Amino acid sequence: MKIEIWRADPWDIDKLSEVADRIFRPMLNPGTGMRREFPLLFTQENSSNLFYIPGERKQPISMVATKPWKVRIFESTIPIIAVGSVLTLPEYRNKGLATGLLKKVIRVFRKTVPVMIISGTLNLYRRLGATDFGPLCEITLKEKEIWKGKVYPGVYADEIHELYSNEDVRYERTLSETMELIDALKAPYYRQSPLKGEVFLAGERGELEAYAILIPYYSRHSLNLKIIEWAGKRDSVLEIMKYVINYYDADSVTLKAQPFDPIVNIAYDKGFDVKKVNNQGLILVLNPQLLVRQMKLYMVNRLKVEKARAYRKDINSWIVKLNDRIEEFEDLKSVTEFFFTEKGLKIPFPDTEGLNYI
Ligand SMILES: CC(C)(COP(=O)(O)OP(=O)(O)OC[C@H]1O[C@@H](n2cnc3c(N)ncnc32)[C@H](O)[C@@H]1OP(=O)(O)O)[C@@H](O)C(=O)NCCC(=O)NCCS
Repeated sequence: MKIEIWRADPWDIDKLSEVADRIFRPMLNPGTGMRREFPLLFTQENSSNLFYIPGERKQPISMVATKPWKVRIFESTIPIIAVGSVLTLPEYRNKGLATGLLKKVIRVFRKTVPVMIISGTLNLYRRLGATDFGPLCEITLKEKEIWKGKVYPGVYADEIHELYSNEDVRYERTLSETMELIDALKAPYYRQSPLKGEVFLAGERGELEAYAILIPYYSRHSLNLKIIEWAGKRDSVLEIMKYVINYYDADSVTLKAQPFDPIVNIAYDKGFDVKKVNNQGLILVLNPQLLVRQMKLYMVNRLKVEKARAYRKDINSWIVKLNDRIEEFEDLKSVTEFFFTEKGLKIPFPDTEGLNYI
């Protein structure tokens, strides 16, 4: 069956954010949740990146929302497309609508965008070649000790933005995007938690050392704190963890870091729990040639690969050449695993559960 797929117009935003609320935030009035929670996704500027299938009276019966970002990985910057809010109304499910939309998204972006990330780990996504990636290290603190220091809730957006921009692995974003994303923490049921997100700072105004953005959430009758973004001096970030567990009288506080980040060893030495976890969601390389071209500086500086090339050998195989090493892959899933997992080059990728999460 041929399905009709539309890219949204600016005036479609209301109906798309309403349908997204009906599926993902059913406890809220339609139109009041997802749009406030994802302020850079459901906007008029981003409307052409929202794909949907119209039903009766042109109302959406299935949709996939995407948002282009640039990701900075040390010296290289690559465009990516982030995918989320994948939904089909219950009465239209299991007919291939979401699959059709995702295939369209892949076709549209593969010419210009080398990498797609998808929120969630459904089989539906894996069948299209998307795969787990990472690892990241999850650092957890459970013990409370009486702690006094210069940590306090607050938002100095300019300094937060500057600290974030100095991180090696991150999303590229502007100060005003940072401000909008921080403001979205106050959306009702942000990331499904009834408790409000909060920003904590270490250091003085004008000399901010570090910040951490956290979401408190209940699980099995305990209160836990998830730090979804942090930056700055590593010691100070860990001090924030010690502070907030007391501030909330919480049972645990966690954050995620790149495995090679100095914060991992510092935390381990200080007795925090450290374990490896996958990044949130799945990743798919859409265009290996572009990826290799755009990762050139990273390859040269970090991997000592002077000559890198990727090309399609035939319909079912891809070749990646790195210096004298030649790898052949039978599909984009194995190309993706080679670039972004421990099976291959382990190219780092920012935490996809962070503030920029779709
Ligand atoms: C997840 C969701 C978007 C899937 O939408 P959908 O339109 O039913 O998706 P598809 O029909 O393309 O695929 C769903 C299943 O139907 C099967 N299917 C696809 N085409 C089919 C067809 N023509 N006939 C029968 N089955 C078909 C697929 O194999 C798939 O099976 P799998 O899940 O075991 O891989 C939908 O169930 C939904 O809205 N769920 C609630 C929101 C949600 O959880 N979103 C995902 C957030 S990560």
